[in-house]
Amino acid sequence: MQSYDLVIRGGTVVTAADTVRADVGITGGRIVAVGENLSPGTNEVSADGLLVMPGGIDSHVHLAQPAFGGPAMADGFETGTRSAIAGGNTTVIPFALQPRGASLRASVVDYHKESDGKSYCDYGFHLIISDPTSTVLGQELPSLVGDGYTSFKVFMTYEDLVLSDRQILDVLDCARSCGALVMIHCEGYDAIRFMTEKLELASKKAPYYHAVSRPESVEREATHRAISHAELTDVPIMIVHVSGREAMEQLRWAQQKGLKVYGETCPQYVALTADDLKGLNMDESGGKYVCSPPPRDKTSWDAIWEGIRSGVFQTFSSDHCPFFYEGEMGKLNPKARTSFKWVPNGIPGVETRLQILFSKGVVEGRITLNEFVALTSTNHAKMYGLYPKKGSIAPGFDADIVLWDPNRKETIRQELLHHGADYTPYEGMEVTGWPVMTFLRGKKVMENGEILGSPGDGTFLARDLSPYAAPVDRTNH
Ligand code: URP
Ligand code: ZN
Ligand code: ZN
Repeated sequence: MQSYDLVIRGGTVVTAADTVRADVGITGGRIVAVGENLSPGTNEVSADGLLVMPGGIDSHVHLAQPAFGGPAMADGFETGTRSAIAGGNTTVIPFALQPRGASLRASVVDYHKESDGKSYCDYGFHLIISDPTSTVLGQELPSLVGDGYTSFKVFMTYEDLVLSDRQILDVLDCARSCGALVMIHCEGYDAIRFMTEKLELASKKAPYYHAVSRPESVEREATHRAISHAELTDVPIMIVHVSGREAMEQLRWAQQKGLKVYGETCPQYVALTADDLKGLNMDESGGKYVCSPPPRDKTSWDAIWEGIRSGVFQTFSSDHCPFFYEGEMGKLNPKARTSFKWVPNGIPGVETRLQILFSKGVVEGRITLNEFVALTSTNHAKMYGLYPKKGSIAPGFDADIVLWDPNRKETIRQELLHHGADYTPYEGMEVTGWPVMTFLRGKKVMENGEILGSPGDGTFLARDLSPYAAPVDRTNH
């Protein structure tokens, strides 16, 4: 008779494909059986009345990223991944950022120093390329891709990160030859600078004007430009954090044309609006919601749901990018009070991503349970070279599992959360559906909000090439 280290018994197992009543047998950190009436395990957990789903994979989080002279992030690996497991996640993929002038390889080495021994969940690194020199493109990137850093992000805005069109084309070309997947932040740098200067001249400097300075047209134009560059170089791309109809329709147009353009959206684009940034005085709470692209309006929520339901978007990520609200390091720091352009850009959300999508998506009848799993776990694993190790519940997969109470009603409150930030932009939001246990490779690391795991439980994941990236001609290698 087969014996198991752990049996999760009597739950409803949900994958991207199926929903079945089954037990899950785990040995050596892996799933070895899914079926009815499994023989007893050394340890047993009852999942009666609960959903048994693959742990969330959040493929877009920012942890311990260099601050460029601005306030430091509120989360390093320890608090950020603690928050992740509390929210039912088992893998995150943050970004190793290359500051201009620095070696990309050295930036990756430094980022390992930030993460080694500190993570509560498994993690890989995307790369952020801010300085695509010939050494970076010719030597560092190909070698890093070979070492398992198989995706990178480029930016069309932000002073310290923006690339020119020519540089983006060069990065895409490099991605083509090494088989990496390129994520693109699509907002137009010049248009935002133009708008920012106009607004400041008119003394419109409160946090709300952050949203006015980067309207949907600015995102739509950059999205179209990125798609055109991808078409020219014949390289698949992932457009990240799509905020509303204008950009969503660009993705749909490209996909209908047969281009390999993939899409990501985030909780803030179905749960927040630009009005949240109001409170037109510098000391009111608008800064709590400053992120890029900014949240739009409720009709944009409908557009995002349309994109989710029709398959325009493959992934639903948090874009967790946490800053403090209060204090010298916070969103209201003295410099930030002089103009919206200095308000630290980004919001926390790794711990609330699953609840928001479950509540607004599954409970309100917009998506199925299986689509929920695909959008929060399976598609991230497939897109970023972690499948079939992560992202499903079947023999051979890592036993990364969340037990989910589909009926639990909660009000999101800062005091429930485990991140380093001192606020949540979703304070007061009522949700149905909540994670009650998280297992990382078979180890119970969270139960009812209590963290049972340790920093260092999580291991670094060298990722395979994405099957969605450009195929590499291996005959040349
Ligand atoms: O506001 C945001 N999203 N900050 C994080 C950086 C990024 O562009 O993803
Ligand atoms: Zn971005
Ligand atoms: Zn981001």
